[in-house]
Amino acid sequence: MASRWPVDNEGHQPDDDEQGRHHRCHSRTRAHVTEDGEQAALLEPPRHNVSVPEILLGVTGGIAAYKACELTRLFVKAGHEVTPILTPEAEQFVTTKTFEALARRKMPRELYPHLVEADLLVVAPLSANTLAKLAHGLADNVLTQTALAFGGRIVVAPAMNSRMWTNPATQANVELLSERGVELVGPEPGELAEGEHGLGRMSEPETIFVRCEELLATAQELRGKQVLVSAGGTREPLDSVRFLGNRSSGRMGVALAAEARRRGADVILLASNLAVSPPAGVEVVETATAADVAREALALRDVDVVLMAAAVADYRPAESVAGKRPKDREAWALRLEPTTDVLAELAGRRRNGQILVGFAAEHGEAGLERARAKLAAKGVDLVVFNDISRADVGFDAQDNEVVLVSAQEERRVEKTSKTRVASAILDEVARLLDRR
Ligand code: CTP
Repeated sequence: MASRWPVDNEGHQPDDDEQGRHHRCHSRTRAHVTEDGEQAALLEPPRHNVSVPEILLGVTGGIAAYKACELTRLFVKAGHEVTPILTPEAEQFVTTKTFEALARRKMPRELYPHLVEADLLVVAPLSANTLAKLAHGLADNVLTQTALAFGGRIVVAPAMNSRMWTNPATQANVELLSERGVELVGPEPGELAEGEHGLGRMSEPETIFVRCEELLATAQELRGKQVLVSAGGTREPLDSVRFLGNRSSGRMGVALAAEARRRGADVILLASNLAVSPPAGVEVVETATAADVAREALALRDVDVVLMAAAVADYRPAESVAGKRPKDREAWALRLEPTTDVLAELAGRRRNGQILVGFAAEHGEAGLERARAKLAAKGVDLVVFNDISRADVGFDAQDNEVVLVSAQEERRVEKTSKTRVASAILDEVARLLDRR
C-alpha cells in the first residue's frame, strides 16, 4: 500500500519499521555533519535497550533564536537525540547548518511519521506568529505541520516584544494552548531586542532544559495504571430548565486528565458540564448530576487512582418538577436532600494500594485547616486545597495556587498554570504510589 507519508528530499521513504516504531530504544544510521559542513552518513554503533529520548526542537524567527543553539547543546550533552526544525523565518537569524552540526542530525524538509512519535516537541524561541498558528492549528511549514500532527508533550518558550505578549490576541492564544496542555516556560522580564524593557524575553536555555528533563522523567510514570478523574460541576434539576449548580469550569480536572494521559495512564474522565473541551486520548463519560457521578465512580471503583476534582453537589432538590414550573407571585420554597458523598463512599470500599485524591475549595487560612480535617474525615491520601477567597486563581481562572495536604507533608504549589498544578499533583500521586 502506498504510504501517505512523503518521501524526503533525498528520495528516502520511511520504512514500515520507522513508521510504526516508538523511538525509545533503537540504533540507526544518522546523517552527521562534518566541520566543513559536508554531510556524511555515519553508521553509529547499535545501542540496544538504551532509552534515548527523542526531542524535536522547533526554532522560530527572532533574535533569541541563537539561544536555541545552547539548548540543542544541552540536550545533546544529556544524551538525547535532537531533531532541529527551523521555520523559514528562523533561518533569517540562524543557519540550519549550525543546528545540524550541534544536533549531528539533518533537519527534516517534510513531515515524517517518526517525527510525530518523538518524546517531546520543544519550540524555543516561540514567536507571536507561530504561537498564533499553533493555537489555531495552521500548518504552513514543517514545524507547524509537525506540531499539528504531534500527539505528545509540547513545551514552548515564547519570546517577543512585551506589547505583542500582552496583546489580548496573544493572551487568548496562550490560553488556548494552555488549555490543551501545551506547557509554557517564560517569557521573562528583561531587556528586549528593541532596547526596551518588559515581559517578553525568552527564558534561559538552562531553565527550559531543566523543565524538559523533569517532563521526560515522568513520561511513562503511570503506564499501565487506570486513573479516574472527575471534572466540572454538577447540575441538579429543579425542573426541565432550571437547576442548582456548582461553580466549576472543569479546567483543573481536564488538566489532570491530560497530564495523567501524558504520563501514560489509561484515563476515564467523568465530565460534569465542562466549559472546556476534554483532552484527546481519554475516555469521557458525561455525568451531569451528583447521582451520575456516584453511579459511574462507584462502578469504576477498582481503578488505581481517583482524582475527584469536580464540584459535586452536596444537596439536590428533594422534588424535581416535570416540565417547566410556571412563574407566579408566590415564594418558591425548596427542600434539599443530601447526595451520596462519592469520595467517602469510595474510601469506604477502597482496594489495596489505591490512591484517592480529594479537592477542598475553601476560604483562606481557616479553609486550609478544614482541608487538613477533610483528609482524615474522608479517608483519602491527598487533599488539594485551593483558596476560593482569591479572584486570581481557582474558579474560571487559567491559574491556580494550591496546597497539597497528605498525612506525611504539606506542599504549597505557588500560583502557576493549571497544567503545572496538575503536574505537581501527579508528582505527589506518583510519590504516594511508590510508597505503597
Ligand atoms: N465530593 C464527593 N461527593 C460529594 C461532594 C463532594 O465526592 N457529594 C468530593 C469532591 O469532588 C471533592 C471533595 O469531595 O473532591 C470535597 O468536596 P467539598 O464539597 O469541598 O467538601 P465536603 O466533603 O462536601 O465538605 P464541606 O462541604 O462540608 O466542606
